[in-house]
Parts: sequence; C-alpha cells; structure tokens
Amino acid sequence: AEPPAVAAVHQAGADGLVLLRRVGVVDPGSLDDYRAHGGYAALRRAFALGPAGVIREVTESGLVGRGGAAFPTGRKWSATAQQPDQPHYLVCNADESEPGTFKDRVLMEGDPYALVEAMTVAGYATGAHRGYLYLRGEYPRALRRLRTAIDRARARGFLGEDVMGQGFAFDIEIRRGAGAYICGEETAIFNSIEGRRGEPRSKPPFPVEKGLFGKPTAVNNVETLVNVLPILIEGAQAYARTGTGTSTGTKLFCVSGTVARPGVYELPFGATLRELLELAGPPETLRAVLLGGAAGGFVRPDELDVPLTFEGTRAAGTTLGSGVVLVLDEGVELPRILLRIAEFFRDESCGQCVPCRVGTVRQEEALHRLKDRTGAAAAGDIALLREVGQAMRDASICGLGQTAWNAVESAIDRLGAFK
Ligand code: NAI
Ligand code: SF4
Repeated sequence: AEPPAVAAVHQAGADGLVLLRRVGVVDPGSLDDYRAHGGYAALRRAFALGPAGVIREVTESGLVGRGGAAFPTGRKWSATAQQPDQPHYLVCNADESEPGTFKDRVLMEGDPYALVEAMTVAGYATGAHRGYLYLRGEYPRALRRLRTAIDRARARGFLGEDVMGQGFAFDIEIRRGAGAYICGEETAIFNSIEGRRGEPRSKPPFPVEKGLFGKPTAVNNVETLVNVLPILIEGAQAYARTGTGTSTGTKLFCVSGTVARPGVYELPFGATLRELLELAGPPETLRAVLLGGAAGGFVRPDELDVPLTFEGTRAAGTTLGSGVVLVLDEGVELPRILLRIAEFFRDESCGQCVPCRVGTVRQEEALHRLKDRTGAAAAGDIALLREVGQAMRDASICGLGQTAWNAVESAIDRLGAFK
C-alpha cells in the first residue's frame, strides 16, 4: 500500500534550509527544474577539483555519517579510494528502517536528482563506476521518482559512459529491500545485493577494504550523501561554519509522537532539544523524549537544554542516532512502549548469533512479566535484563544485538521505569 504523502517539512534556524531547500519547491520529475534550482553545480565543481580535491573538501567540512554512527565521511572515502583492489563500488544505504526515522524518504521523494548527483560525486571521488541504491521496499513513491530521475539523468548524459562529457563512467542500479530491518546493516546489504540471505558479516574487514562482491566499497546514508552538494558548492569552510566544532552543518530531525506538528525539521547542529520541541508544539505534560530511536535513549523533561549534537547527546547519556525525536506525554504507558521495542528487536534479529537470537527473546519475556510489576517484585527481572543486555552488547555480531537493550536500560536508569 502507498504510504501517506511526504511528511510535513519545517524550516528553522537563521541560515534557513540547506538539505531541504528544494523539497516542496522543485518538480521532482524534472531534470530541467532541478538544474534551474542549482542542480549539477556540485558535480561540475567536483570535476574541477578532481577526486582527491573532493575528498579534501569533504574531510575539511567535518561531515560525519547521518545514518546514525557518525563516522567521518572523508576518512571513509579516502580509505576506499586508496585501495588497489578493483573495481570499487558505491552503495547508498536508503533502507531507512529505524522506527521513527523518515528523513531520507522526504529527501528521496522531494529531491531525487540531488541523491543521483550526490552518488555520482561519491563514485567519482572513491573511484567507483557503479553505484547501488539499496532502497527500503516500503517506499514505492521514492522508487518511482528515483527510477525516473536515474533514467532521465542517463538520457541527458549525467549518468553513463561519459558523465557530463568528462570521461568518467558511472551508473546507478536500484535494489529494493523486502521488509527486513537487518538488511539496512551495511554488510547485510552486500549479502542481499549478492543474492544471499541478508545477514551481517563480521567487521573487520571493513567495507572500505572488502565490501560488495569482496571489493572496496563506500557505503553512505542518503542524508550524508546529499550533504556533499552544499559542501562542494559553498566550500568546506563555509559549510563548517554552521553547527559546532565536531558536529558541522545541519541535521534532519524526525519528530513524532505527541506533538502538534510532527514532521521533518532541519536545524543547525547545536540547537537544543527545547528549541526543536517549541517548533513542533510540545505536549502539555511531557514524560520523556526518546532520542536516536529504538537503539537510543530517553531524555527527561528537566534535560531539554541538551544540545542536539553527537557529542552533546552522548554526554547526556543518549545518542542522536539517525535523528529520531519521539515525544511521549504523561499519558503513555512506558512498560508497553518498552515491550513494543523489545518485540521489534526479537522480530528483526536475523538469528545468526546466539547473544542476540536468545537475548532478544529473554528481554521480551522479562518485559512481559514486568508489565504489571514494580519495586521488589520487579528486582529479579531487572537484574536479568541487565545481565542479558550486557551479554548482547558485548558479544553480538552487529549493531542490532549490540544496541537492543539501550532504550530499556535508559528507561530503567533515567526514567525510573518499574520503580
Ligand atoms: P559502525 O560504527 O560499525 O560503523 C559506522 C560506519 O563506519 C560503517 O560504514 C563502517 O564500515 C565504518 N567504519 C567504522 N570503523 C571503520 C574503520 N576503522 N575503517 C573504515 N570504516 C570504518 O556502525 P553501524 O553498525 O554501521 O551503524 C550503527 C548505527 O546505525 C547506529 O547508530 C544506529 O542508530 C544506526 N541505524 C540507523 C538506521 C536507519 O534507519 N537510519 C537503522 C538501524 C540503525
Ligand atoms: Fe543477526 Fe542479531 Fe547477530 Fe546482528 S546481532 S548478526 S541481527 S543475530
């Protein structure tokens, strides 16, 4: 079924929109309209700089990954470009599946040529001639618009054997996910594209060395890639003036839950959670805000001045992750929310490794028992949750198992759940 139309897009910050500036403005089906709104200026600049120059700009901009892990993009691109093994690949991770995350969808539906252009820049910088766009299966509108954008870009020489007459060959193939959350894990994407079960591989080796088909691969999230366009157009230093020292640029936040105006908000890094909630219309009685999604942590009403930066949220005991801001009012039943999160992880665990396969089941069972328990009656199951959670964190192969206990732990320690 077709999902509802693009979530509302809201502007904030003195500098205005950067990533969302064309969304809702440009005709997403028209290459000419995209070009009339500044499209392909970044790729032209990339060709003028050369691959090493592009990587230098991206490194100096301070851009870090927006999928959730905040790894420096320049380092990833440079490590891929330097690998002697050929061919190199580019993979765009568009399998946006973190509960409460819908920012990449807004970018892909509203400004699809931007992603096509950004992938071409990334391919040029990392020495890849083929890019795979791994798209969440439940995004049919994004699929249609991206297919059209790729076809039209190819027909006009912006993809293909000789991109913009610069002697660089690059093309993009779309692969669709089939509803499995784990297929958004970067090495599970490789297996999925290669026709295997979507199970994560052990890292290292990292994809920059051995990725898709065993070859050097740069994997980047949609929002990360789209950031490269303003970096090239404005220059790294101008870009880095927005945000804070270690979190540069702007960030897309996905605000949902009990707010008056849910939607995607673009803010400069460093804005506070309070400022974001004021824009979205907070509930009268706020219980907590879940930052970073199911793998993230809770912020209390007395902590709303936390700066929305990677370092600021880490210091506050949570994470920015992919930009989930799930607002809960006093009416929510916290134990039910935690149980829902636990069900999600149990359901989505690929079952490959024991700590996660068994741990997510034990976690859900304990939370079922805890639904109606508090105080001394809850102590045994809370101790069990801690033990199981630590085992999952320490011994799971991938991020799913390693983070499956984060939100539950945060609710117990920071919100006093089950007290
Ligand atoms: P990670 O920390 O293992 O890796 C982050 C990136 O850096 C990867 O591309 C990895 O290959 C690269 N990397 C790390 N160390 C490297 C090294 N030494 N050399 C070269 N490359 C290196 O994190 P992971 O598991 O890729 O992502 C976890 C994050 O994903 C979580 O923060 C979570 O919030 C987020 N997430 C986002 C979802 C979404 O829908 N946007 C869904 C699920 C999780
Ligand atoms: Fe699969 Fe979970 Fe192990 Fe990740 S941690 S490989 S999801 S079983």
